[in-house]
Amino acid sequence: MSRLVVISNRVAPIREGKIAAGGLAVGVYDALRQNGGIWFGWNGEVGQKPETACESAGNITYVTLGLSKPDYNEYYRGFSNATLWPIFHYRIDLARYSREEYLGYRRVNAMLAEKLKPLLRPDDILWVHDYHLIPFAAACRQLGIGNRIGFFLHIPFPTTEVLTAVPPHRDLFQTLCDYDLVGFQTESDRMAFQDYVCRELDGLIGTDGSLTACGRNFRAGVYPIGVMPDDIRRLADSYRGRRPMIGRTAEGKLRKTLISVDRLDYSKGLVERFLAYEQFLEHYPEHRRNVELIQIAPTSRTDVKTYRAIRKQLETVAGHVNGRLADLDWMPLHYLNKSLERRTLMGLFRTANVGLVTPLRDGMNLVAKEYVAAQNPADPGVLVLSRFAGAAHELGAALIVNPYDCLGMAEAMDRALRMPLEERKERYEDMMRALRAADLNAWRDNFLRDLRTFGRHRVVTA
Ligand code: UDP
Ligand code: G6P
Repeated sequence: MSRLVVISNRVAPIREGKIAAGGLAVGVYDALRQNGGIWFGWNGEVGQKPETACESAGNITYVTLGLSKPDYNEYYRGFSNATLWPIFHYRIDLARYSREEYLGYRRVNAMLAEKLKPLLRPDDILWVHDYHLIPFAAACRQLGIGNRIGFFLHIPFPTTEVLTAVPPHRDLFQTLCDYDLVGFQTESDRMAFQDYVCRELDGLIGTDGSLTACGRNFRAGVYPIGVMPDDIRRLADSYRGRRPMIGRTAEGKLRKTLISVDRLDYSKGLVERFLAYEQFLEHYPEHRRNVELIQIAPTSRTDVKTYRAIRKQLETVAGHVNGRLADLDWMPLHYLNKSLERRTLMGLFRTANVGLVTPLRDGMNLVAKEYVAAQNPADPGVLVLSRFAGAAHELGAALIVNPYDCLGMAEAMDRALRMPLEERKERYEDMMRALRAADLNAWRDNFLRDLRTFGRHRVVTA
């Protein structure tokens, strides 16, 4: 069997059972752990010479390198997170563009391909992840690397009108044609990609479903990233820590809890969620003192301006909600900027009556799936889910909301808290079927099967 080499911007070796927050790290780690392989990418350090270091743990070999300050600024902080991330999440208003940063992004991709080349065997399968590494295969091909290379995009692929806001869009996105297989989270993402290829790259769709553009023939497919429901259930079962700091009502009953867990990112819709929660408490005063919202929001990309701005805004809104509504014996909103271990998170999911997952845009959102998998089947909680999360394509049995509609979200919170046991169970079982049908193993196995089946990229001569 050929070796699997995974390439992602951030490589997160597991230390003491902890893994960096973020769906990519959680998904890739679980996927690699089964059959082993190499995980190649940035070690998270800045101001270092880009020299590779090797570390093995279990059957995974981590090959990592640091980035120089200019590389970090231009490739990671600049083009990846201040241009691509906002545009791919439909926030053109938050995007900025600098040609220097774009050139830095291309330079770092080329440098990473060069560093990887000496480690490769001819039959290795390369699986490249996410928006930081779009031109990675093109850089490999330039170096004569002929291995099969697949790419998976963890975030949404926006419509052509939005994507063309990236100034060098043709120069960049034509490099996706150098992959053998390009994978997306949802059918909408794949369709948007196909539309872009046809309209902007003069591509053609073959009768076999393959795409031909820029002198290349390749495939695009849908591979929704999943979770391992039984592992999550076991983690939630085994959590023996204290229940969250929920208090008791005046009558001595435990307060009900709503839980949200997101990296502190403007795509996650936290401001809208806090305001909807305020409206919920205003419109349904009978819930006051009887509920609490716990928002876990570990900070992310803190040296990108837009992330500092959203953090400030959230501090204001959280202070406003608590200032207006809290009392000496009740705090409606618990807002924590720290990351929690997986076991603790799954334990919290188990105890929370409602999982509130309301991003403005999200590639998939693993938290939504984890919340469902962590429930007690005999008394499951309710998932309130944004229609703009990739997960909504599979979890139609959640209470689906539009995160721009605060009152609609407030109504869903009330409905979730009042939902009878029978309906909760029905919805839970429906969602569990969906989680089992497309779990994390299926994500990895289907992608790699297709990458192996469809063969090496083919140069098409006119
Ligand atoms: N996560 C975690 N600790 C935290 C916050 C999040 O382990 O404090 C994990 C969470 O359980 C999930 C992942 O990070 O597996 C977040 O993935 P998701 O797809 O929801 O969002 P992303 O961060 O990738 O945008
Ligand atoms: C999301 C992205 C990943 C990224 C993660 C954490 O999950 O899809 O590519 O690694 O967020 O973000 P960071 O910038 O800290 O790596």
